[in-house]
Amino acid sequence: MQRKILVTSALPYANGSIHLGHLVEYIQTDIWVRFQKMQGHECHYVCADDAHGTPIMLRAQSEGITPETLIANIAKEHQTDFKDFSIGFDNFHSTHSDENKALAQQIYLANREAGHITTRTISQAYDPEKEMFLPDRFIKGECPKCGANDQYGDNCEVCGATYAPTDLINPISAVSGATPITKESEHYFFKLANFESALKSWTTGGHLQDEVSNKLDEWLESGLRDWDISRDAPYFGFEIPDAPDKFFYVWLDAPIGYLASFKHYCERTGVDFDEYMKPDSTTEMVHFIGKDIIYFHALFWPAMLQGANFRLPNNIYAHGFLTVDGKKMSKSRGTFINARTYLNYLNPEYLRYYYAAKLSSGIEDIDLNLEDFQNRINSDLVGKVINIASRCAGFINKGFEGKLSSSLSEPILFKEFVDKSTAIADKMENREFGHAMREIIGLADKANQYIDEKKPWTLAKEEGQEQQVQDICTMGINLFRVLIIYLKPVLPETAKQAETFLNISPLQWADIPNPILSQGINKFKPLMTRVESEKIQSIQEDSIETMSTSTES
Ligand code: MSP
Ligand code: ZN
Repeated sequence: MQRKILVTSALPYANGSIHLGHLVEYIQTDIWVRFQKMQGHECHYVCADDAHGTPIMLRAQSEGITPETLIANIAKEHQTDFKDFSIGFDNFHSTHSDENKALAQQIYLANREAGHITTRTISQAYDPEKEMFLPDRFIKGECPKCGANDQYGDNCEVCGATYAPTDLINPISAVSGATPITKESEHYFFKLANFESALKSWTTGGHLQDEVSNKLDEWLESGLRDWDISRDAPYFGFEIPDAPDKFFYVWLDAPIGYLASFKHYCERTGVDFDEYMKPDSTTEMVHFIGKDIIYFHALFWPAMLQGANFRLPNNIYAHGFLTVDGKKMSKSRGTFINARTYLNYLNPEYLRYYYAAKLSSGIEDIDLNLEDFQNRINSDLVGKVINIASRCAGFINKGFEGKLSSSLSEPILFKEFVDKSTAIADKMENREFGHAMREIIGLADKANQYIDEKKPWTLAKEEGQEQQVQDICTMGINLFRVLIIYLKPVLPETAKQAETFLNISPLQWADIPNPILSQGINKFKPLMTRVESEKIQSIQEDSIETMSTSTES
């Protein structure tokens, strides 16, 4: 049955560049989406920049530009990076858009109508010089425990202590340097506790990974507190209806940005937005996120949607964090690598494959070990997969004018490759990409063994063996073709080049059992080259160099 699936990745903040950590998520989602599309499902993949909030407002000010100009510049940069990594969004929008404003107001007002919003006066740190309330991360001072200087917000990087920002000794505003005062203001709250029983059943209803739903169970047990959804002016965001100078907190309108991007796409393409959004929709809505933002997605988000009588997500899939060479990404070690820095030296398909080989359905962190990366690409992709085609193509092109034999000489071997399709599809569907890659590389080993045993290069020198040589290489090419179908969600550009080489139309999953026979293929151009150590060194060197020009995030 054809499924209809709306898929999202978390919206990147519009105040920084895309880095290899972010790409774990966009690559994971993109592979899954491409796989669904190859299966013939109707699948829409949308995303947007997350454009609101204090950091973006302040960064624009410090650059002497408007927030609108800043987010427009970043939007361009993000989209170029994504495109160059073959992240195939069907739509990329912004949370600072008309669609998002309308939807945020609609969802807020529906929740207000239903009694899920309340107000209360709270006191907060305030910068009297800059005349703004200060989020925790914009207050710094001395650690109350060890006395270390220049510590931000609510934890000390020197001794690891955690505290309230009001506990900092000699606190100053990171914005102006002024001493913060405490000031009262009325805030708007979303009454999360109203959804306690609904959330208890939703979080255990098969929509989440087991480890995530266990984590949520702890949070639910410790009680749901009201969620502060307003921020005072000056703030870059949407004004709250009937509340002058109060703005929606960035995390209120951020997930609504998924729907806004989809709406923008529906208006452009004629896809039926309401069919996807109605509470009893038979379509699917699936969110891919990092493990750091589970609370927002698995508690606030379903509650907000339910309060406004929208459909709930079918699945939220969280992934772990990227480490590089076993450690947190670091600017001083040159392992905080921006997408663009990588692209300056290496083929994006290598990283897509490496992440695929490392990814599972769980939320464990994944490690990019640069030496292992190099070995894996050189051995699996260049040495095994691509090698099959390069070993066979020359004989077909030279000896047979590019023409393949009219039948498969080893149908049982071919069938063995085809029969793996269900198991591999199963693993792809369940986001067990690492397992899927192992199956595929196992098949590549088999194909190479077959060619090793048959030795077409020896037969080609003997007389009367032409048919044999053509048959062996036709087999090799057809095994390669099946592997390329399996790898196409992971290596879309390589697959495209392989389709050109094989002289065939774009491959779908359903094409797996149909070999190509009696037809001509094109000249073989090397589809991939080896990863050289110097390239990796250059990436690290360039990543260290950017240290002084950007801030650690
Ligand atoms: N803007 C919010 C998301 C709003 S979604 C309605 C945000 N932005 S982010 O730019 O910080 O992160 C975007 C996504 O990238 C998140 O899912 C986050 O978990 C993921 N990652 C950011 N750094 C990462 C790593 N180092 N490793 C893996 N994923 C990482 O959060
Ligand atoms: Zn300390």
